[in-house]
Amino acid sequence: KKVVLAYSGGLDTSIILKWLHQTYGAEVVTFTADLGQGGEIEPAREKALMLGIKPENIYIEDLREEFVRDYVFPMFRANALYEGVYLLGTSIARPLIAKKQIDIARAVGADAVSHGSTGKGNDQVRYELSYYALEPGIKIIAPWRDWEFKSREDLIAFAEKNQIPIAKDKRGEAPFSVDANLLHSSSEGKVLEDPAVEPPPYVYQRTISPEEAPDKPTVITVGFKKGDAVSVNGNPLSPANLLATLNDYGRDNGIGRLDLVENRYVGMKSRGVYETPGGTILLAAHRAMESITLDRGAMHLKDELMPRYAELIYYGFWFSPEREMLQAAIDKSQEHVEGEVRLKLYKGNATVIGRESPKSLYSSTLVTFEDDKGAYDQKDAAGFIKLNALRLRTLGLRDRKS
Ligand code: ARG
Ligand code: SIN
Repeated sequence: KKVVLAYSGGLDTSIILKWLHQTYGAEVVTFTADLGQGGEIEPAREKALMLGIKPENIYIEDLREEFVRDYVFPMFRANALYEGVYLLGTSIARPLIAKKQIDIARAVGADAVSHGSTGKGNDQVRYELSYYALEPGIKIIAPWRDWEFKSREDLIAFAEKNQIPIAKDKRGEAPFSVDANLLHSSSEGKVLEDPAVEPPPYVYQRTISPEEAPDKPTVITVGFKKGDAVSVNGNPLSPANLLATLNDYGRDNGIGRLDLVENRYVGMKSRGVYETPGGTILLAAHRAMESITLDRGAMHLKDELMPRYAELIYYGFWFSPEREMLQAAIDKSQEHVEGEVRLKLYKGNATVIGRESPKSLYSSTLVTFEDDKGAYDQKDAAGFIKLNALRLRTLGLRDRKS
C-alpha cells in the first residue's frame, strides 16, 4: 500500500507520516508544495528523510506561478468574495495541491492520498472533492477523523516516542492555527475563538498595522490584459512576481487585514483573521479596470453570478462542471479588460485615483454637462422615462382610486 501525503514538514503532518506507516504499514510518499507560504521548503526534504522516507518518495514542487496563473487570476476575474469580504486565499489553494497529489499518485502507482485537515473544517471537503473528481477510485485517509489521539498531549507523546523533532514553541498548545500562501495568511482558533475579542497584534504576520503605516501615500499603477494584471508601474511581471510585488506594497501600507465570522460548509460559524495585502489591491484595481471596459449588462450579470462562483470555490467545487461554466462566462467578459489603473495606497486603504484603456467605453462627449455637439439628444430622455413610468403611473392611478 502506497499513500501520497500532503506534507508541510511541520509537526502535525510529520506525526501523520509516522502514523500512516504504523497504522497501515503504508509506504509513504510525501508531497510538499511551495505556494509562496514564505520560508524555505527544502527543510521538508531533510525532515522526511530523517523520518525514514526514501529519497525517491519525496516530492517537492514550486507551484507559485501555476497557483497564481491558473487559480488566483481566474478567480480574480470574477472579483470573487465569499460572504461579501473573504478573498478565498485558502479555498483556492486546495484544488491545486489535490491535483498534484493525484498526479503523483498516478506516477508512483499509489492507491491512496492523505491530508492533515481536521474533520471539522472546509479544507477536508475541498481536498477530497478534488481527489474524487480527478481520480474517482482513489482511497482517502484523513487521520484527524480516524486516529485515537484526543489531545495535544497525546500527539506530543506520539511524536516523542517516534523521534519526531518538536520545535520549542510547538510543545505547548499553538496559540492559533495558520494557513499561508502567496495570496493570504489565515489565522483561526484558540486565542481567536471569541469573536467579541479583538485579535492580539501578534496574530498579524504579513502586514503592518494601518496605524504604523507611513504618513505619506504611495501611488502605483497596475496594468491589465484580458482581465489579468500584467504589470506594476509599467514593468511587466509574471503572475507570481506581480502578486508578490503587490504584497510588498500592501504590507508596507497596512492593507488587506480582515477579521470576520464566516459560515463553514460543514455548518458551524467560525472566526477568522485574514491578511490579503496584494489581493486587496488587485481587487480594487481590477474592478476599476472593468468600470471603463465592461458593458453595463455584462458587468451586472457578472456581479450576480459572483456570489455563486465564490461559494463554489469556498465549498470546494473547483473541479465541477458548474464552476467551469461560470468560468467560461467570466473569461469571455474579460476580452477587453485592459489598460492601466492608478491607485493611492495609504494607511490601510487602496484608493483608485485614475484609470485608462485603449478599449475604454467611457465617453466624455456623452457624459459631459457642457455642449456635446449633438452626441446625445436630451429630448430622447423624456420618452425613455415616460415609458418606464407607464406601469408606475397605472399603479398610482389605481391606488389613488381605492
Ligand atoms: N476559513 C478559511 C477557509 O475555509 C481558512 C481555513 C484554513 N485556515 C487555517 N488557519 N487552518 O478558507
Ligand atoms: C481544518 O479544519 O483543518 C482547518 C479549518 C478549515 O478547513 O476550515
